[in-house]
Amino acid sequence: MSEPLTPAESDGAALAKAYCDTRQFTQRIVQPLSAEDCMVQSMDDVSPTRWHLAHTTWFFETFALREEPDYPIYDECYNFLFNSYYNTIGQQFNRSRRGTISRPGLADIQKYRQHVDAEITKRLQSPEYVARKRAILEVGIQHEQQHQELILTDIKHVLSSNPVHPVYQDVPFDPCCSPHQDHPIRIDAGLHEIGHCGNGFAFDNESPRHPIYLPDAQLSNRLVTCGEFLAFMEEGGYQRPEFWLSLGWNTVNQERWQAPLYWTKQNDKWMQFTLAGLVPVNLDWPVCHVSLFEADAFARWSGKRLPTEFEWEIAATQNLQDSDSTKHGSSPDPITDPPFTNPPFADHLLADQRAIHPTRSPASLMGSVWQWTSSSYAAYPGYTPAPGAIGEYNGKFMCNQYVLRGGSVATHSTHIRPTYRNFFPAQTRWQFTGIRLAE
Ligand code: AVJ
Ligand code: FE
Repeated sequence: MSEPLTPAESDGAALAKAYCDTRQFTQRIVQPLSAEDCMVQSMDDVSPTRWHLAHTTWFFETFALREEPDYPIYDECYNFLFNSYYNTIGQQFNRSRRGTISRPGLADIQKYRQHVDAEITKRLQSPEYVARKRAILEVGIQHEQQHQELILTDIKHVLSSNPVHPVYQDVPFDPCCSPHQDHPIRIDAGLHEIGHCGNGFAFDNESPRHPIYLPDAQLSNRLVTCGEFLAFMEEGGYQRPEFWLSLGWNTVNQERWQAPLYWTKQNDKWMQFTLAGLVPVNLDWPVCHVSLFEADAFARWSGKRLPTEFEWEIAATQNLQDSDSTKHGSSPDPITDPPFTNPPFADHLLADQRAIHPTRSPASLMGSVWQWTSSSYAAYPGYTPAPGAIGEYNGKFMCNQYVLRGGSVATHSTHIRPTYRNFFPAQTRWQFTGIRLAE
């Protein structure tokens, strides 16, 4: 029998397991894809799958290996090709032209992944390396999990661009849950604490925790459905400027938007492209692939508004506490707490993640679609990005973007929490983005 592990060794072992699990999960996600699938860039915002596979690897190499004295750099060109946006590290290849690069090929990139995996796992046996690099390796793992979602949203866009509507996987994937009864979540006026409280991993943009004054408000306990969005469309939602922000109205006209992204009409019937192919629009599913502009216009048409990110966070925190305190004793209410018709993505992909994540259910506010808030993405009071390249991770994007909350079916379960802040420009539609209303 082997000796019990020292705390340092078990810390290293836990980190090694998290690292390997994350890297393998990425491989599971790309497993249904061919080398040709992995090469396509269908629009500027989309990166080829191959680029994601290389970039996440480059991140580990750059932040956890490059400066180690005994580390052989795999290929100096990769620093230009696979650096996404870290100006402190060097220049980058043009983002919107990533799909024009055919080499290194998929097989080369898989070799690069194996090289970095071997170099990282070898070093994780040293308690000294673990102590020195634990924080950045955790960021690297969370970073790869963010790219797992981007791989899925990007490949959805790639496949949707193909007129024969190819299928990523036969199992339903896209957000679908039965609607439940309305019972608004009330927020009482007063000071509320916002931000991460220090337990477990969080990105820097979730801190510092600080008080915010909120007036009385109500958030819906459920997401806006496709049926409700269709009613907006049928009342001329996309044709009536009175519902739209000025920039939104410009965008609707320039882009000729008439429906959410991935909706198409076939023989007078609305269909939607999903990762399981083209399916009829299901009126009960949460509406998805709308921009902030569409979310905001829908809210105005409804006589309601979008929540601020602070209202959203307080509602989600209260909602989690309520479901905790009723967990023991009372059985779930089948009307207000229906099971997911389809489980979140991890459950399709990995049998050992089948247990529904406690914070991811239709009765919680999280895990189906990201929800637009009316809040501009900005620093919390006292926020300072870390010095050096890693400080470019979140902070420098705090201009001209909006905060999304809640997590989607494509979001890794470790990112599903009330304080998590996702962010995208207002016209973004290719992420799994939907609508929750407030008043
Ligand atoms: C938080 C999803 C907006 O897409 O750039 C990936 C995630 N950060 N690599 C992005 C991210 C660094 C980020 N979003
Ligand atoms: Fe990245």
